[in-house]
Amino acid sequence: RIKKIKGYQILDSRGNKTIRVKIETYGGISATGDAPAGASKGSREAIELRDKDGGVTRAVELVNTLINDSLRDFDVRNQLGIDQTLIRMDGTPNKSRVGGNTTIATSIAVAKTAAKAMGLEIFQYIGGPRVRYLPIPLLNILNGGLHAGNELKIQEFIIIPLSFDSFHEALYAADEVYKQLKGIITEKYGKLYTMLGDEGGVAPPLSKTEDALDLVYTAIKNSGYEDKIVMGIDAASSDFFNGSQYEIDGKKLSPDEMIDYYIQLASRYPLLYIEDPFNENDFERFSILQQKLKKTIVTGDDLFTTNIEYLKKGIEKSSAKGTIVKPNQIGTLSETFEYIEFAKKNSIKIIVSHRSGETEDSFIADLAVGVQSDFIKTGAPARGERTSKYNRLLEIENDYGIEYYGKKIYL
Ligand code: PGA
Ligand code: ZN
Repeated sequence: RIKKIKGYQILDSRGNKTIRVKIETYGGISATGDAPAGASKGSREAIELRDKDGGVTRAVELVNTLINDSLRDFDVRNQLGIDQTLIRMDGTPNKSRVGGNTTIATSIAVAKTAAKAMGLEIFQYIGGPRVRYLPIPLLNILNGGLHAGNELKIQEFIIIPLSFDSFHEALYAADEVYKQLKGIITEKYGKLYTMLGDEGGVAPPLSKTEDALDLVYTAIKNSGYEDKIVMGIDAASSDFFNGSQYEIDGKKLSPDEMIDYYIQLASRYPLLYIEDPFNENDFERFSILQQKLKKTIVTGDDLFTTNIEYLKKGIEKSSAKGTIVKPNQIGTLSETFEYIEFAKKNSIKIIVSHRSGETEDSFIADLAVGVQSDFIKTGAPARGERTSKYNRLLEIENDYGIEYYGKKIYL
């Protein structure tokens, strides 16, 4: 049972303040939960409670008073009851009163404390006996959009190591491609071009989408992994949509021209994955693109914001084969689990994802394994807040011998 809940401010990977919640039980068990933070957020996400100066002291205060008072004596294993109490306490549809950051940090701390109290790994506590395999990583090795200082409009250039017998072989191969990419960039443009963006990918000062895709594709080919590693992008296109056109590669393209733009890219590069190709309200064009690119996993992030209401709409319209799952977009773990269950029932692929502002907490690695997600998206194989998740997956593989099903499922 919960004895005390305490919040305090910590720093995230961009040096911004974020909230950490610590829970202690009467039995002396304790664990923490951190709230990550997005930069290219969907407009329908749970609201972050922030002070005017960017801090989260108001959120911390709520944890130390209202939340501590309301959740004291709850059984930590009662995740649903605790999350429902948080939802009721907030009382708004988008958690704007208490803050989605406040609720998700609390909710994660609850799950981690419960796992500890029961002597289980977090992924075991979440997943129980259904845990069979480790997710396929989507590694964002070249950063653009709001995550970098360059002019690239596409936010993420992703590699996907599918065809490997184990998670570690997949990850190490992806890491080779990442190093190869740095080598190619150094040779072509000089070392200054290998600076990193927010998610640990290189962020060369390029402006054309195809220049970035060429670099990544060349890195895959030069590493000798052309038949094993494929590519993906997260366009995060709401960020370059001006209300009627997409401003990209020095041009202004209409929504219909954007459809052809992606089809053209998919004919030149092995694009298995395309996230947020259109702005967050354009369910129709998502659907057209998914119909035209049957083999590609068109995925909604800002489109769905881990919210069942919008996923339902996407399913009705056949907008996407995949969905991003970010617990802080909705604000509690129970709602996240419900979302995942609903998505799975409708054969939508699950991509558990970090945010561009992260902490060293590896919770989402356990979450991905626990819910048996198809993919995990947690950045480049570099920078501690990204590697903490990869290293946790390596640890789970090493300690529990869990298989990597990339090859069997996808090729
Ligand atoms: P964000 O971006 O965490 O900055 O919102 C991640 C994404 O768009 O997938
Ligand atoms: Zn995204």
